[in-house]
Amino acid sequence: MPTAQTLSWGTYAQKYDILFDYNPFYQKLHRQVMQEVGKWSVPSGAVLADIGAGTGNYSLAMAQNFPQATVLHIDKDEGMNEQAAQKKYRLELSNHQIRSLGVDEIKLAPDSLQGLISIHALYTFPDPAKVLQNMYEWLEPGRPAVLVNAGRIVNVLDWQLAIGWHLLRKYGFKKTLEIMREGKEVSRQNAYIREIQRQGGYWTHSHGEFCEAIEAAGFRIRHSKTCFRGVSDFVVAEKP
Ligand SMILES: C[S@@+](CC[C@H](N)C(=O)[O-])C[C@H]1O[C@@H](n2cnc3c(N)ncnc32)[C@H](O)[C@@H]1O
Repeated sequence: MPTAQTLSWGTYAQKYDILFDYNPFYQKLHRQVMQEVGKWSVPSGAVLADIGAGTGNYSLAMAQNFPQATVLHIDKDEGMNEQAAQKKYRLELSNHQIRSLGVDEIKLAPDSLQGLISIHALYTFPDPAKVLQNMYEWLEPGRPAVLVNAGRIVNVLDWQLAIGWHLLRKYGFKKTLEIMREGKEVSRQNAYIREIQRQGGYWTHSHGEFCEAIEAAGFRIRHSKTCFRGVSDFVVAEKP
């Protein structure tokens, strides 16, 4: 049975951006998050952070959107960070800093961030409630956070069918087969994640429970909704 030992973020990293290139639901969520982030008022010299930033799809977009700010891309996996580094190099971004750190190793001063996001990463952390408290601590009062988390157990087959159907309509049979073959590792790692969720190794929650956890850390929620085909929760919050 798959366990946290068989899940490998490093292996996942090699194929992770197939999600960004082809998964319409990942692409939609990316648009939703960046639309929200695009509303931020970011002063010159601001520091923004993406916690559990993966291959940098969000942190790099933030660095592009806000050249006046520095974006901290924080993730513990070297493979994920290497993918982000390659893209950062191609984009020639000088305001994007990659920090290879576990979430419990992050040392940021209180009130030092002018905005933060964490997308589909909180559920993987050993103590999400503690991380939410730390995020609250790091954020300057009045500043926003976009917090998205996968709270429900993923039905991998259902997702494959939904994505396959979309690809068939968009690319036709041959290209769809190629993409699905290329994406096998993504499906395998997602099946491991599902198993860890089922075993209680990853945080699962209802929409209400996610909002409660965010409020318990001290945040004020501006608005919230479910997203990612109902599997995830999307919260826009601020430190009062
Ligand atoms: C599903 S990925 C999400 C990546 C990115 N936010 C996105 O949506 O594309 C989860 C990320 O959390 C990172 N992660 C898992 N446990 C971590 C920890 N304890 N500290 C820091 N990062 C961690 C993984 O390396 C992985 O990159």
